[in-house]
Amino acid sequence: MTAGKWLLPAQPDPPYFADIVPLEFLMSYSLPSLTPETLASLPSPAYVIFRDRLIQNLESMIQVAKDPSRLRPHCKTHKMSRVIEMWVERGVTKHKAATIAECEMCAAAGAEDVLLAYNPVGPNVDRLISLARTYPNCRFSATTDDARPLQVLSAAAAQAGVTIGIWLDVNVGMDRTGMTPETPGAAQLYHSVSSLPGLEPAGFHVYDGHQRQGDLMERRAAVSAEWTRVLTLRSQVESLGTAVPAFACGGTPTFPCYAAMSDPAIQLCPGTSVLSDCGYGTAFPDLPFAPAAAILTRVVSRPATDRMTLDLGNKAVAADPPKGARVVFPDIPEAVQDIHSEEHLVLVTAAAENYAPGDALLAVPVHVCPTSALYDRAAIADNGKISEYWEITSRNRRISI
Ligand SMILES: Cc1ncc(COP(=O)(O)O)c(C=O)c1O
Repeated sequence: MTAGKWLLPAQPDPPYFADIVPLEFLMSYSLPSLTPETLASLPSPAYVIFRDRLIQNLESMIQVAKDPSRLRPHCKTHKMSRVIEMWVERGVTKHKAATIAECEMCAAAGAEDVLLAYNPVGPNVDRLISLARTYPNCRFSATTDDARPLQVLSAAAAQAGVTIGIWLDVNVGMDRTGMTPETPGAAQLYHSVSSLPGLEPAGFHVYDGHQRQGDLMERRAAVSAEWTRVLTLRSQVESLGTAVPAFACGGTPTFPCYAAMSDPAIQLCPGTSVLSDCGYGTAFPDLPFAPAAAILTRVVSRPATDRMTLDLGNKAVAADPPKGARVVFPDIPEAVQDIHSEEHLVLVTAAAENYAPGDALLAVPVHVCPTSALYDRAAIADNGKISEYWEITSRNRRISI
């Protein structure tokens, strides 16, 4: 095949889900059911959260952490004020966010300490300062890996009379942002925060999204290796005379690894585990979380005997997993996800003959975090019925600041 019209290299056909994951595994996903009346009345596609599952995941996270004070969960998965309130009710007051809107949502919902795990640059510097002024009872902090934006943030914070905590973003191998522990100047950059007006050293931010070992023991060994490097950097910083009061560590896959470590300065930052999804569920079977979110979709067409088309396009479910593996249908796990366009998902399955246009199905997203951001509200299911709707508060980039 020659290069396409956009001069992209030819791509091989993507694998289908059943080629990647054993069918028996896909069949193991199950969801609580919805009553026939609920299925009939919810417009599709609808984002549904099963309250009991969500609560179970929150409780399991606290259990893994051993204490709510060790948690600093990332809110980017759900983006919902109501979930932050549920955390605060359970004593989890420190939170992590990726956008200014998520920070605002956390502070407005009662968080006492919000880490913007993103380097503030450009006009977002002033937005962070506005947040600190608007919510004086909440401590705000942000990551850094470069002296220049730090100077800008320092000047803005000092002028506004607020203090922003600064975490050195430590790159332990993901190579997305940050400085490796061995980078010359990493210790010096963190140490410099102590003399910048308006800023204070908060600790090290250690996110390791590259650690994807399916075997928990192998993941633990990889985390131990990265931790040794982090501690070497801490010693260097301390010898310069600056303390490292906390470490904001890991995501969901390495959550149990960091939770098993005893350093009281470690904060645990899983996000996905709150709702969980089929991506992590499949890759990390040791994790004690069950999918709490699903999408109600309907058959809109039966274009051939073995085909059925659903209103579950790539504007209704995250499309960052490979084509063919973006959702799991617990009722028909073997269905091949063939065409996925903006508003349509075409399934190829012998089971199509059992379905007619209008029939409803539940689908579990493979990647729940970007899926949440596609909806403005979630339907909350209790005992098969929708009891209320929760706003996806920070799905937009701006709330009020
Ligand atoms: C900086 C940072 N911290 C924490 C998390 C949470 O990780 P997970 O989605 O594995 O729970 C993420 C996820 O993208 C992240 O980017």
